[in-house]
Amino acid sequence: MSINKKHVLFIGAGRMAQALIKGLDKNEFAILVGNNGNEQRLRDIKETFNVEITTHWSQEIHKMDIIILALPPESHEDILAKLSETISGQIVITVAAGIDPTYLESRLPKGTPVAWVMPNTAAKLGKSMTLYALGQHVNQELQEWIEGLICGIGEFEKVTEQQIHELTAVTSSAPAFIYRVAEALEKITLRSGVSKAQARKLVANMIAGSAEMLKTNVAPAELAGEVATPGGSTAAGLEVLDTNHLDDLLINAIEACRQKAMVQE
Ligand SMILES: NC(=O)c1ccc[n+]([C@@H]2O[C@H](COP(=O)([O-])OP(=O)(O)OC[C@H]3O[C@@H](n4cnc5c(N)ncnc54)[C@H](OP(=O)(O)O)[C@@H]3O)[C@@H](O)[C@H]2O)c1
Repeated sequence: MSINKKHVLFIGAGRMAQALIKGLDKNEFAILVGNNGNEQRLRDIKETFNVEITTHWSQEIHKMDIIILALPPESHEDILAKLSETISGQIVITVAAGIDPTYLESRLPKGTPVAWVMPNTAAKLGKSMTLYALGQHVNQELQEWIEGLICGIGEFEKVTEQQIHELTAVTSSAPAFIYRVAEALEKITLRSGVSKAQARKLVANMIAGSAEMLKTNVAPAELAGEVATPGGSTAAGLEVLDTNHLDDLLINAIEACRQKAMVQE
């Protein structure tokens, strides 16, 4: 157990805050949670995660080491203005789409350490692929704090701010593409007369197993080659995907996500 727990304030108590809180080592971090007035939600969080809650988070800033903004992007402007009045060197971390370190630094007092963390929905199972980028005033110790915060929701990778803008489409949006693939495969599986539960089991475990194979670092093309004997049944299926340019379709889908994100930012 750490002698000096880091004091963390969550502003925002929704899905992402709860995923992070669930994954946090309570021996390392003392957690306080505030939100926008939904007191029932705070009471539920206190009961579920055994953490402290507050209805007046702005009065608690001076006791904190870390402030996590787990609220919608559009709420940041006001909250950062409010924070600026009381903050005194605490690190400010946001999980919001589009709110990058440059934005945070421009709205907080000079020298404030900031970071941008971009998880995906699998965070609630501790299986997120999370990206993070640092502001210019984050030292090694603070970086370790950040990694200590996000390791509880899955894997993470440090990248640049620009890379988060570009790669959010891959790590946070593309899971929806995989779910679309799963939906189509489930539909065709059901036509064989199995139950819905059986179809889900078949498809989910097939995808999970494929993901595990990918993690062995064998190239995807080689893994596909292991499945598909030349001239065999799998090769016939792959030919349909290739003829219909699955790769171009995915590139276009990622590009569409990026374009939309740029307009929203
Ligand atoms: N969910 C995901 O998988 C995911 C993935 C990546 C990034 N994110 C980002 O994470 C952030 C939070 O998303 P979420 O899914 O957790 O949202 P959510 O479940 O809708 O929760 C939003 C939380 O923000 C609070 N809030 C809103 N405006 C506020 C304000 N002005 N002051 C203080 N608290 C305020 C709400 O307070 P009340 O409790 O009072 O309503 C609520 O607790 C968003 O920026 C989102 O883009 C989410």
